[in-house]
Amino acid sequence: MYDVMLLRKDFPVLERVIYLDSAATSQTPGPVVEVMNEYFFNYTANYGRGAYGLARETTERYDEVRKRVARFIGAKEHQTIFTKNATEAINMVALGIKWSKGDHVITSILEHHSNLLPWLRLRPKGVEISVVESDRQGILSPGSIGEAITERTKLIAITHVSNVFGSIQDIREIAKIAHENGATLLVDGAQSIGHMPVNVGKLDCDFLAFSGHKGLLGPPGTGVLYVKHPERLEPVYSGGGGVKSVTKDSFELDESPVCFEPGTPNIPGVIGLGAAVEYVEKVGITDIEHHVTSLARDAASRLAELPNIEVYGPLERAGLVSFNVASMDSHDVSMILDEHGICTRSGHHCAMPAYQFLGISGSVRASFALYNTQEEVGALVGVIEEVTRTLT
Ligand SMILES: Cc1ncc(COP(=O)(O)O)c(C=O)c1O
Repeated sequence: MYDVMLLRKDFPVLERVIYLDSAATSQTPGPVVEVMNEYFFNYTANYGRGAYGLARETTERYDEVRKRVARFIGAKEHQTIFTKNATEAINMVALGIKWSKGDHVITSILEHHSNLLPWLRLRPKGVEISVVESDRQGILSPGSIGEAITERTKLIAITHVSNVFGSIQDIREIAKIAHENGATLLVDGAQSIGHMPVNVGKLDCDFLAFSGHKGLLGPPGTGVLYVKHPERLEPVYSGGGGVKSVTKDSFELDESPVCFEPGTPNIPGVIGLGAAVEYVEKVGITDIEHHVTSLARDAASRLAELPNIEVYGPLERAGLVSFNVASMDSHDVSMILDEHGICTRSGHHCAMPAYQFLGISGSVRASFALYNTQEEVGALVGVIEEVTRTLT
């Protein structure tokens, strides 16, 4: 039985505000903070380096998290690389593939800048980039990707859930088209992970990138890159750790995943990420999906009933809703909500092309997590209703 009031006890900050910005960064539950504190108080040491007991303990705990995260997404440990966020994970793919002049990448108009800029920056290398359009609800038709594909298409990079529309893409179908045409598929899972089951086998993707601090409720500064064939990806960084042997003129890198993680990693962050995945698993991912999508769908339909409100995205949305109030600037609306203790995000949400496609400069976005309630949806709708009555 899903008990949201019990869950909320793990998030004391929710007594201060109505937090509807979890698509940017979610709140961190007490048990996750405690596990990170435990690292600092009881076993701080470096990862994978010391022979002494304390360092071995740190290393074992860090490796346990890798096992847990790999299991959570249906991957193997050597395919599961820790990064500092989804942005870094995507850049590691863009910079780690050996590109040739004339290679082709397909991405979409929906993408967060983090899944667009790394590809656009390949153009000076002679890589061609196609940006396919979605429909007005933010849904990509796999057919349009099929039309854009060429024999030089090396990679398709698509978001699982749009951070603007909340639309959920048909990743399996896109994967089928990619693989039938000899291309690989990168899925940006930043907005789906922790909010719905995400399994790399079921999605049939070659790369999956996500952050720890959104749906997973982990700490900022953590992320994951899943790579189906790590041996085909060149590590971008190198240095201490992740290396088998070094002479003054040469070196031999270690196997994946450590060759992708040189330097001291974010050990407390990764430890916290492990606890966050455990937390999400305990609550249950399908229950979370049901709870979060119900809140977002309810908010979307109630807002759409108000006069002078435009709601973006499809009915069948994931856990967020973007909207505008008639001629008002989205930041002004968000500031009014803030005066009522409601935290929402406004502006272009790092997805300027999506807004250019819609012909607007931005929107207000309310995004939900497992700790939000129907009462909070009611408070949001109530303030917006008042705004439409008094200001438009
Ligand atoms: C769809 C999507 N992709 C990528 C990112 C980038 O995430 P991060 O800033 O954690 O790297 C975000 C962040 O909001 C996002 O919504």
